[in-house]
Order: sequence, then structure tokens, then C-alpha cells
Amino acid sequence: MITCYNLSLEYTPGHKVLRDISLKIPQGSFHFLTGPSGAGKSTLLNILSLAMQPTQGRLALFGKDVTYLGREELPELRRKIGTVFQDYKLLNHLTVAENIGLPLKVIGEPQHEINDKVDELLEWIGMRQYHRVKPATLSGGEKQRVAIARAVINNPPLLIADEPSGNLDPRLAKRFMYLFESLNKMGTTIIFATHDTELIKGFNHPVLDLKEGHVREVKAAA
Ligand SMILES: Nc1ncnc2c1ncn2[C@@H]1O[C@H](COP(=O)(O)OP(=O)(O)OP(=O)(O)O)[C@@H](O)[C@H]1O
Ligand SMILES: [Mg+2]
Repeated sequence: MITCYNLSLEYTPGHKVLRDISLKIPQGSFHFLTGPSGAGKSTLLNILSLAMQPTQGRLALFGKDVTYLGREELPELRRKIGTVFQDYKLLNHLTVAENIGLPLKVIGEPQHEINDKVDELLEWIGMRQYHRVKPATLSGGEKQRVAIARAVINNPPLLIADEPSGNLDPRLAKRFMYLFESLNKMGTTIIFATHDTELIKGFNHPVLDLKEGHVREVKAAA
């Protein structure tokens, strides 16, 4: 599903944030990604979700080398990846409902079907009354819920979530973990970055530990 070959990333020349990362993430797996603040988790996830290109190395997604894709090939691949960005990246000129429905809008789904799915997700995230609200006035946790709803609305085969429960209260965080778990059981491959060691302990998933530019995979407890 995801293969990285000696991926490196430097924002400033000579200073590598990621160093020669080689990884294989099988289809249908669920991995946590952890590591200290500033270790490069978001950087790695941005590369995997095709929001950024590595400085060196190669990346294959869905069995295809995507390292140097042309601009015209990117949108189709990106549609297969649901991404929850650490800073949400909601579009401020659109309403909450429009943000959530965007992945379906861009593939030309009929508006009534988009509305039905958006309503269902709004209900599920407990934000039905925010339908027409613009993201700017939402709290951090509300923005996060909208970002998660947008990432899952088109059932992507790959879900990349960067601290998706970082701003949620424990009850909501648990609810969303169940959502991620059930998506994974239905076949979605998930990479989930978190600092929350208690959360990680509660699930039997392998952990990618990012430190000093290197990733070490720690197997889940049997
Ligand atoms: N656009 C950028 N330009 C220059 N440096 C950057 C840029 N983005 C991130 N960095 C630096 O790269 C390093 C890794 O950042 P990144 O955001 O990937 O870390 P992280 O592991 O996600 O941290 P956190 O746990 O705080 O979210 C940090 O030192 C950061 O300051
Ligand atoms: Mg980060």
C-alpha cells in the first residue's frame, strides 16, 4: 500500500528532518505514528499524503511510484487518500457542510447525495446545528471533527490522520477511535499520528516511532 525507499527531507539544505526512511505499510493495516514534538511526524505524513515531495528517495502508493508525478496525475491519487491535517486546513470561505462535502463535490457526486451523506456525518460528529457556519468561529475540537468528517466522507482506501483527536475531550476521542477502528475493519489502511501513549496502549496496533529522522517499527503487543 505504502512503500518508502530511503526517503529524506530537508527544509533547509544540509539539515535533514527525515533521514533515509524505508518503510512498508501493508494494505488494511493500522499504524500509530509517534515521536517527540518536532521529530517530523507531520512532515512524513505530508509526504505520504502527497502534499509535499521528499528531497531524496522514492515513494510508492497503491503499487505505483508517485515520487515525481506530474501535476495532472496528482488529483486522482489524492482522492484515494483521506487526510486529517494537524492544522485542519478547512476552507474558510465555505460552510461546515460544504467543507465536509468537498471530496464528493470534486468527483461530481449529485448534490442530493452529497447532502444526505453530509447530514449523516454532521449528526454523527454532533454538529448538526453548525451546518451553515463558517469554520473561522469554530473551536479547535469542532474544526477537528469537521476535518475528520471531510476525510472519511468518500470512504478512501487510505486514511492519514495527524493528531486527529488532539483537541477532542476524552469521550469524543474515544468515539472517533471507534470510527477509525471500524473503518479499518472494513479495509481502510490507517496511519494515525499521536503523542498520546495511553491511547496507543489501548489498541493492539504497531507503532512507528520517529526519532532523529529515523523510523523504528515497534510491533503491537501480542
Ligand atoms: N515549512 C517548514 N520550513 C522549515 N522548517 C519546517 C517546516 N515545517 C516543519 N519544519 C521543521 O521540521 C521539523 C519537523 O516538524 P514537524 O511539524 O514535521 O514535526 P512533528 O513531529 O509533527 O511535531 P509535533 O508533534 O509538534 O506536531 C521541526 O523542527 C519544524 O520546525
Ligand atoms: Mg505534527
